[in-house]
Amino acid sequence: MIDFATLRKTFAEFSDGEPRFFRAPGRVNLIGEHTDYNDGFVLPVAIEHETIVAIAARADRLIKIYSVNENAAAQFDLDEPGAMRRGIWLDYVEGVARALMRRGVVLRGADLVVESSVPVGAGLSSSAAFEISTGLALSAISGAEIDRIALALAGQEAEHTYVGAQVGIMDQFISALGKKDHALLIDCRALTAENVPLDTSEIAVVICDTRVKHALANSEYNTRRRECEQGVALLKKALPAITALRDVSTEDFAEYQNLLPEPIRRRCRHVVTENERTLDAARCLKNGDLAAMGELMSRSHESMRDDYEISCRELDIMVEIADDCDGVLGARMTGGGFGGCTVNLVERSALDRFRRKIMQEYQKATQIEAAIYISEAADGASEIKH
Ligand code: GLA
Repeated sequence: MIDFATLRKTFAEFSDGEPRFFRAPGRVNLIGEHTDYNDGFVLPVAIEHETIVAIAARADRLIKIYSVNENAAAQFDLDEPGAMRRGIWLDYVEGVARALMRRGVVLRGADLVVESSVPVGAGLSSSAAFEISTGLALSAISGAEIDRIALALAGQEAEHTYVGAQVGIMDQFISALGKKDHALLIDCRALTAENVPLDTSEIAVVICDTRVKHALANSEYNTRRRECEQGVALLKKALPAITALRDVSTEDFAEYQNLLPEPIRRRCRHVVTENERTLDAARCLKNGDLAAMGELMSRSHESMRDDYEISCRELDIMVEIADDCDGVLGARMTGGGFGGCTVNLVERSALDRFRRKIMQEYQKATQIEAAIYISEAADGASEIKH
């Protein structure tokens, strides 16, 4: 992973200050996809892939930052907002800095060196890890005690303003508040979470990266959001008290789905059933019933493939190969969709065979070399004392 001595050396070449170090993880979502912006439930895990920031305060108002991954430096002035949506990596840092300032955090100028082991574009929340690690670092060296929920919201605001993606709160929340050896059942309306123990002594959480990302992802994400809002507006005729799909039970949906035209009906069906599956999955996890949990993950994939239509050929192939392997309890695409990764629950005794089969058969079917990551559940963002 990230070599600290090298990071320290890189920082010394970039800044005269004495650095402090902060980290924030990427995430994999076990279940509960596209439910966060519907005020619903998600069940993600923070992973060991993370972004590390070395930072020292400056005497002036500049934020100067060097990205090891990009091998590039950039800067902005805290008192002179730069343009939004430039489509560059600085958008994430400036976005989170401005969102923190809007929340009353008085930021100081700083030098930052950032390095990340979260694969970019794989749907493992490299952006959230970037926002949360830099947001925490900037607040801390300014002497501000930032509340973790406020930090997560600042990261989300950076996406909405500077980056231009209408994301929900899941990724920033888990990156800021994840807990080692646990998944988090997040209530995205209440902004509260329950830590659910994840026992990985016999079962591993395996992430399979299709290594594809389809260009449509961003616009389709925003379209799905709109379709859900249209669904709520139409269902309100029969259910006036609802404000989000979170408020629609599967029974209500069965009764009133005829108010919805296609494809809105299928979109809403995904969200309504996915919320129920997520709550069920958290219960299964608590009871140690991983077989039932795996079953729910498979149903979730079908729902995303057929109703929400956010899967793609490569993701479906990856899930089909996994479903055919002995020792796999469940497999589904994870994250925003249209590429990225699948998440799999695999018996540890079957891991080697699983790995071999995925690599071989995926290559055969797509001519693409997959990547496989195994991660324990990690803690959310923190300062690293060195
Ligand atoms: C992306 C977004 C999240 C969430 C997922 C889908 O990761 O950032 O807010 O909507 O997609 O579950």
